[in-house]
Amino acid sequence: MKVGILGTGIMGRPMARNLLEAGLEVWVWNRTREKAAPLLAAGARWAETPAALARQVDVLGLVLATPEATREVFYREDGVLDGVHPGLFVVDHGTNPLAWAQEAAPLVAEAGGQYVDAPLQGSYPEAERRALVILAGGTPTGLEPLSPYFEGVGGTIVFAGELGRGVLLKLALNLITALTGAALAEASALAAAFGLGQEVFFEALEKSSLAAPFHRGKGEKLRSGDLSPQLPLKLMNKDLRLIQAEASRVRFPLFMGGNARALYTLAERMGLGEADLIAVRNVYREEA
Ligand SMILES: NC(=O)c1ccc[n+]([C@@H]2O[C@H](COP(=O)([O-])OP(=O)(O)OC[C@H]3O[C@@H](n4cnc5c(N)ncnc54)[C@H](OP(=O)(O)O)[C@@H]3O)[C@@H](O)[C@H]2O)c1
Repeated sequence: MKVGILGTGIMGRPMARNLLEAGLEVWVWNRTREKAAPLLAAGARWAETPAALARQVDVLGLVLATPEATREVFYREDGVLDGVHPGLFVVDHGTNPLAWAQEAAPLVAEAGGQYVDAPLQGSYPEAERRALVILAGGTPTGLEPLSPYFEGVGGTIVFAGELGRGVLLKLALNLITALTGAALAEASALAAAFGLGQEVFFEALEKSSLAAPFHRGKGEKLRSGDLSPQLPLKLMNKDLRLIQAEASRVRFPLFMGGNARALYTLAERMGLGEADLIAVRNVYREEA
């Protein structure tokens, strides 16, 4: 099976590496070619344009930062749509709006391919250790041909049932990510305001029934001051924007999500967009 990864950023890079290590023929394209250099050195092949990449492969994974970037790369001259061929699976791993899946799927189908929404649950560490959860808008039978690709990427699959449901599942789960990040930031800042040390706060959290891998990972980042992005804060805020839009579409009152959006927006305005989402903790430093 020949596979392609379009977008070799935080998530696309480890995914492509996993595919190479699984022994698949891997092709890549990235807007900034230099960022794909380590993958090319490891055996990936370079396609000159998104269309050329699509033409080369049986499965094309899109791992682009935002809905706007995905749309641009899809429709541009020599974009993805120009390269769709009969039998191609376009597997969109981005966290995008439901309307995007509904727009892209018929266009890919017209050219003989199949579009699948397949967002990712898990961040860079999970991608690196092949522990992603892929939320697929489809059924086990319908997506059976993709098994070697999904296994190669390093993910467990949850089949959400039909087109677009993978994206909705991702948005619902990502509300937990946003709220948990905000809760961890606010609670650890409150502890500091009480005069409690961060070591004792995180020790108690770790020993309690509240302990969770997410708390542990983000706690370590806070304590070491390492705010390098796993999920960049600006992408967390982008996801909250999408969550709010989908919630209002179904007239759902998003009490907690609305507050989280205000908090992450403030953090982004403070210039923390490129840092990890847990940099939202710095808002409280400024307020204190
Ligand atoms: N990071 C996470 O923890 C995580 C977890 C789950 C889901 N996701 C989702 O997965 C997707 C990818 O996330 P990521 O963290 O890998 O993002 P990222 O590293 O910030 O960016 C991914 C890629 O998007 C490309 N890109 C951005 N704007 C572009 C444009 N206008 N035209 C062409 N390419 C463009 C970047 O190219 P350049 O290299 O040229 O900048 C990069 O290769 C997003 O939808 C995100 O919400 C992320």
